[in-house]
Amino acid sequence: MKIFSRITGTGSFLPPRRLTNADLVAQLAAQGLESNDEWIVERTGIRARHFVDVGIHCSDLALQASQRALQAAGVAARDIDLIIVGTSTPDMVFPSTACILQGKLGVRGGAAFDVQAVCSGFIYALTVADAMIRSGVATKALVIGAEVFSRILDFKDRTTCVLFGDGAGAVVLEASAEPGILATDIHADGKYTDILCVPGHVSGGAILGEPLLRMDGQAVFKLAVGVLDETARAVLAKAGLSAADIDWLIPHQANIRIMQSAARKLKLPMDKVVITVDQHGNTSAASIPLALDTAVRSGQVKAGQTLLLEGVGGGFTWGAVLLKL
Ligand SMILES: CC(C)(COP(=O)(O)OP(=O)(O)OC[C@H]1O[C@@H](n2cnc3c(N)ncnc32)[C@H](O)[C@@H]1OP(=O)(O)O)[C@@H](O)C(=O)NCCC(=O)NCCS
Repeated sequence: MKIFSRITGTGSFLPPRRLTNADLVAQLAAQGLESNDEWIVERTGIRARHFVDVGIHCSDLALQASQRALQAAGVAARDIDLIIVGTSTPDMVFPSTACILQGKLGVRGGAAFDVQAVCSGFIYALTVADAMIRSGVATKALVIGAEVFSRILDFKDRTTCVLFGDGAGAVVLEASAEPGILATDIHADGKYTDILCVPGHVSGGAILGEPLLRMDGQAVFKLAVGVLDETARAVLAKAGLSAADIDWLIPHQANIRIMQSAARKLKLPMDKVVITVDQHGNTSAASIPLALDTAVRSGQVKAGQTLLLEGVGGGFTWGAVLLKL
């Protein structure tokens, strides 16, 4: 019998500390930097974001999101045989946040590892988990996107610090006789490492190089709109479907203008696009599962619907997953 993978539960978590644009603008002003709510809303669609407090780690957010996804799926943590965390802001250099999360869930034995594909992290993680389930390597997976980007933001750089937020989203992915995930498509182009990166590293107990996020916003924007359209079309073609078959587009929540462009190119009206960037900011690998769970819990997205998830981020990386919920 052919095996497919299917999402059976979703969960998410946002740290309680919420900063509106006004809060951030005041913080920037205290350093002599000018910004304003109108600029941020018009260029990005962002109105608020959540930040962790000191001492809260990526795995803490991942744990809350995972517990909610497990509860929604009716699956016990001890039955999970694969944990994949998409993150670029792990708790430690090593071990992986997935291993730390497994320990916090109080279980042992299953495989656990992180996937590092920046804002495409959840799309990559879901693609790997789907392949492992379809090939019989795993049967019940927790796939998570979790980030504490506030740790790597330069709060003296007004062009980047207003864009990002912290959070986590998770899904339980189970082996199933019915799909589930219909098709996946992932890519990278390593010649663009410099346009979105945190160049610093730890060496001999010191940080060498810049340990904060650096971005060429216009280069990222231009590249993102092109590759998102390519991957959306590729994943639809693999499944033999067209854009008209999509009930919901759930794009990486980086910027409302990138999402509008993605929808326009697919000829999808914006009322078929799940939008959470206004309240979450860009939570990198967490943004797609956060948006998915928010839409499932609000009743917007329903079981049986066809969803196109698509992501793009540092690397440069990009990809899409087409699925039936
Ligand atoms: C970052 C981004 C919003 C900037 O918008 P933009 O239209 O390209 O704006 P520019 O960088 O040309 O800057 C325009 C002006 O606004 C200013 N500005 C930048 N940040 C500002 C802020 N927070 N508040 C007020 N003004 C700001 C700039 O300094 C510039 O001023 P100048 O013309 O006097 O030099 C846009 O490039 C973008 O969305 N890029 C993609 C980013 C992204 O999604 N990254 C993650 C991908 S995973």
